[in-house]
Amino acid sequence: MSLDITSVQKGEEVKFKNPPKEFLEAIGGIEGMRELMYDFYDKIYESEISHYFPQDEEEFQKVKEKNTQFFIQICGGPKVYQEDAKELDLNEYMIRIHDDFSITEKARVEWLGTMRDALNDKAKGVDEKLIKQFWDYLDNFSKLTVNSFSDGSTYYASLLDKSDSRLGN
Ligand code: HEM
Repeated sequence: MSLDITSVQKGEEVKFKNPPKEFLEAIGGIEGMRELMYDFYDKIYESEISHYFPQDEEEFQKVKEKNTQFFIQICGGPKVYQEDAKELDLNEYMIRIHDDFSITEKARVEWLGTMRDALNDKAKGVDEKLIKQFWDYLDNFSKLTVNSFSDGSTYYASLLDKSDSRLGN
């Protein structure tokens, strides 16, 4: 199965669909998603983007668990992450979390490549159609986390009214 990485255009309107609940069920529910995400983060620490993430063991553990909770909720599982997002839309909140980091297209490609490796290891028995739907969410949504471009400019995407988007230099 080919899980392609499509490229980002600065300021483009990104369309995406949250992954289906069937993916969460097929991966083994909450515990299965935890296994996938912990494996992903273990791989992240061996990757070229490890420096983006906390080096402290306890902080690393927190990010692993937060990430797991987010993915459980975005796949239509129990709302175990939402208290952090408060009244903001969950996906908008997730874009804003990434504003604190200078995320380049190259970092996104490495992030997605690492997730693809984790899926190859942990989603072996899952229906290809469901994996593809999960992947389409990741490929598209991750474009909104890219805020630093090769021409040296920044752009912070938003799902809110376009006038709320903050254009950098
Ligand atoms: C589909 C795309 C992505 C999703 C759904 C996602 C999701 C998340 C989640 C749930 C967290 C934890 C938030 C919390 O602490 O409450 C997080 C943190 C983070 N993500 Fe992402 N992410 C995505 C793409 C990326 C990409 C492409 C990068 C590139 C380097 C990245 C870098 C980070 C960093 C640096 C953190 C923070 C670590 C810290 O707290 O120090 N993410 N992400």
